Amino acid sequence: MLGRPPNVPRRKPRRADFDLEDIQGNVLRGYTHPAAAYLFLRIVDVEEARALMRRMLPQVATAAPWITGTPATAMNVAFTFAGLSALGLAPEVMESFPAAFQDGMAARAEQLGDRGPSAPSAWEEGLGTGDAHVLVTVYAIDWEHLREAVVSVIGEDAEQRAVTLVHLQRAEALPGGKDHFGFFDGIAQPALRGAGVEPRPGDGQPDGAGGWRDVATGEILLGYEDEDGTLPAAPMAPFERNGTFVVYRKLAMDTAAFRRYMAAQNYPGGADQLAAKIVGRWPDGTPLALSPDSPDAALSSDSRRINDFGYDDDPGGLKCPLGAHIRRANPRDSIGFFNGRLSNRHRLVRRGRAYGKPLPPGVVEDDGVDRGLVFVCFQADIWRQFETVQALWIDDGDPFGLGRDKDFLVGEPHGTEGKMTIQGHPPHFLKPQPRFVTLRGGEYLFQPSMSGLRYLAQA
Ligand code: HEM
Repeated sequence: MLGRPPNVPRRKPRRADFDLEDIQGNVLRGYTHPAAAYLFLRIVDVEEARALMRRMLPQVATAAPWITGTPATAMNVAFTFAGLSALGLAPEVMESFPAAFQDGMAARAEQLGDRGPSAPSAWEEGLGTGDAHVLVTVYAIDWEHLREAVVSVIGEDAEQRAVTLVHLQRAEALPGGKDHFGFFDGIAQPALRGAGVEPRPGDGQPDGAGGWRDVATGEILLGYEDEDGTLPAAPMAPFERNGTFVVYRKLAMDTAAFRRYMAAQNYPGGADQLAAKIVGRWPDGTPLALSPDSPDAALSSDSRRINDFGYDDDPGGLKCPLGAHIRRANPRDSIGFFNGRLSNRHRLVRRGRAYGKPLPPGVVEDDGVDRGLVFVCFQADIWRQFETVQALWIDDGDPFGLGRDKDFLVGEPHGTEGKMTIQGHPPHFLKPQPRFVTLRGGEYLFQPSMSGLRYLAQA
């Protein structure tokens, strides 16, 4: 069990009123730009870096509506603990940040289950070493605009006096919003109270009476009431409001191994149903909880139905297995989760993107291309949200009565021990756990408000 971070005392809540101009835009909305790049920068000269930040500020997208349509490019900026330290913040401000963020992802690898080929010692250059200070995420309508925007950050500093690029990751949307295993991703998101977006049924929290209500703003954004009715623990001013914590994980996906595995199992329902049982949805997004035997195009194309489900009528996992990825990552109202009360405080806003060229349909031998998911999520508390989901629900089966079984889709294999039970009459066992996903590196970051960003650029 991970320790609760020692943190600043909880303060009295005040009413949520959104200042959209003060919030970086990617928290409240998923951008649809097809091209993206994640630039991890190391600050070389603090004054030069501040000057660069001041020049970048007009390009940073806020949450205010885009009145003249989607901009050709949008940028967002976040900092690691080492980055804030390099910018010379006062010790008392640095100490007010929560322990998980101060430690960084690499230091918490063992608790997160990031072992073997996923361990920090095997990560790609520039991640998990303390070298990455700033993450600039650039979104663009095409690669030409992306290149121009990237050059505006790093290219103009030819002598690299301000920053050096320590890690670069490109990402691109796959056709139809699918991931590299062929599944529609990015469906379920927590509807945030006050965000001004009409929530779909299922996007919020189970209300205990068969309906849904919005997630308290403070679960994702600092400075607003959370599900406990108090303000989430936050760093000192000027970082106490409208900021959020970011988890970045580059997850390589072995598509060929995934396809071979599904075909080789002789699962009675066939390879597609086996993959759906492991994920918890059919490739088109149809939830197994609503349609366990086949995908349902009418359902998956209906935005009011695709996410409107729970697990209370499937306590034994006969429709959606107890260990399916989506049931672990958000157990909703599963038995033992008390109408959702125990899952409510572990919600993530996911902003992942696929990277790498897809493996052509039908190919089952690996072609050596690096492909996968840039997993990015936002939350008010890395320990309570991402780390709890990753360490206790994905890397362990205990909360679901599944012993030491891990998430079969994304969990780190552990020798011959791991298995998945697909509940049924009779049940079907998959053993041992294969490797479909490998962590190639990651960072914990803090994404300040726009006023926090201006403070860092000026201070
Ligand atoms: C390469 C790795 C991963 C793949 C291929 C993957 C794939 C998927 C797919 C296909 C869905 C269903 C579509 C949707 O509801 O949006 C999903 C949902 C979800 N995933 Fe993942 N995922 C990955 C890693 C992770 C990780 C590391 C976490 C968290 C630590 C996570 C958390 C979630 C959550 C919270 C949901 C929504 C569940 C719900 O509310 O019903 N995923 N994922």
